[in-house]
Amino acid sequence: MAFPKNFLWGGAVAGNQCEGAYLEDGKGLSVPDMLLGGDVDHPRTFLPVTDPTAFYPSHEAIDFYHRYKEDIALFAEMGFTCFRLSINWGRIFPNGDDAEPNEAGLKFYDNVFDECKKHNIEPLVTLCHYEIPWAIVTKYHGFYSRETIDLFVKYAETCFIRYKDKVKYWLTFNEINIACMGEGGIGNLYGLGLVEDEDINATDPILLTDLKSDPQKMFTALHHEFIASALTVKRGHEINPDFVIGNMIAHVTEYPLTPNPLDIVACQNHDNYVNNFCGDVQVRGEYPAYIFKHFKDNGIDTSFIREGDDKILKEGVVDMYTFSYYQTNCITVDENAEQVAGNMSHGAKNPYLKASDWGWQIDPEGLTYTLQMLADRYPHIPLMVVENGFGAFDKVEEDGSVHDDYRIDYFRPHIQAMQKALDQGVPLIGYTTWGPIDLVSAGTGQYAKRYGFIYVDRHDDGTGDFSRSRKDSFFWYKKVIASDGTDLS
Ligand code: BG6
Repeated sequence: MAFPKNFLWGGAVAGNQCEGAYLEDGKGLSVPDMLLGGDVDHPRTFLPVTDPTAFYPSHEAIDFYHRYKEDIALFAEMGFTCFRLSINWGRIFPNGDDAEPNEAGLKFYDNVFDECKKHNIEPLVTLCHYEIPWAIVTKYHGFYSRETIDLFVKYAETCFIRYKDKVKYWLTFNEINIACMGEGGIGNLYGLGLVEDEDINATDPILLTDLKSDPQKMFTALHHEFIASALTVKRGHEINPDFVIGNMIAHVTEYPLTPNPLDIVACQNHDNYVNNFCGDVQVRGEYPAYIFKHFKDNGIDTSFIREGDDKILKEGVVDMYTFSYYQTNCITVDENAEQVAGNMSHGAKNPYLKASDWGWQIDPEGLTYTLQMLADRYPHIPLMVVENGFGAFDKVEEDGSVHDDYRIDYFRPHIQAMQKALDQGVPLIGYTTWGPIDLVSAGTGQYAKRYGFIYVDRHDDGTGDFSRSRKDSFFWYKKVIASDGTDLS
């Protein structure tokens, strides 16, 4: 079955994972600039820049900042009609609370969007992909402070006004629900810019999973982010009524491990908390009843919800629901069940699924299930899969080629899964694979965890000349797009 002619095909990146140039043209420090690399068994570590000898991968990343023309031309060669990227907040407001935006930062994204237009590629822009300015972390404790709402809305408004004729599709916060995934304070740091003072002042690297986490502060900060997102959506529509503004959820679909009713109920509760809560707030414009039960059971004081916030949430519901889909987990009450982790989530091992070298369980059928379930849950808005992909070690042959059949084998059934969902009437409007070009891993900080159709010569020891080359999957994805998804051979 062919995908619709106007289906948005492309790839997705984040500024902090590809741009580099971390202090160039007036950019201020942001959260990812404080992160070192990890490896296959360990998430990356956090170290506020105090060690000039340490290797911070995002400082140079893959140098997209200087090579965006070459990269966008390669995306165009594959036939992309959409390119998801983030604006790196600290390029626009280096300290987060500056009176005026940084013109050089604004100009950079003008150039990137113009380059996209040249190739008939529609940009899809994430306003915040873990890129909270570091000064907001230290001065305001990220989104824990209500003042940060205004800082974000001012930043978003600046982008909307500047790019209103260049960008139609926007996302507010990347994977806003990672705060609920409970892996130490990673979600707090990445998603909310919330770090405890003790960790901010660290002089030795801290494993991200060991970062402190306080649920009361987390829910306060998350609420402020919901309000910031809603105000942003409302303001965006005032600036350009044609804007399509979405949320973005890390959807780690969950199944009960067994038919034991206790597993079913545990799965439902966990799924509501991890996957549904944030989407329900952003799509329906109100807090769902089940979360108040969670607040009650966990002694969360809800006084962070101020008078008038309910109106703001209602007025700022999103136009589309977008999500990342990499893997699924099982949930059980059996404490002895074998555990797996992936994309900042935990769950029980599914005996029917294989996993990547990083333990992320591969489940294409689950994508059809997820799309159908989301279309039922939010029937009135379109859906978009804005991240999906396979992190793998690649081997470069002597002639420079990369035979990444394993990556093609990952994508093929996921694309078929979307076809099935479309056939069932799911309003899916686009698909951007994660990391169409190799970049820095968010979870481990590795270069060696590669997602790209395009290989980048850059390595975890800091070597490599940043040159780009086409992997086998490049030619495959090009064929897929050219055939509207009918040729997956
Ligand atoms: C998503 C993030 O969670 O997964 C991306 O939005 C991230 O930023 C991607 O890179 C893949 O995760 P990882 O840890 O393999 O980079």
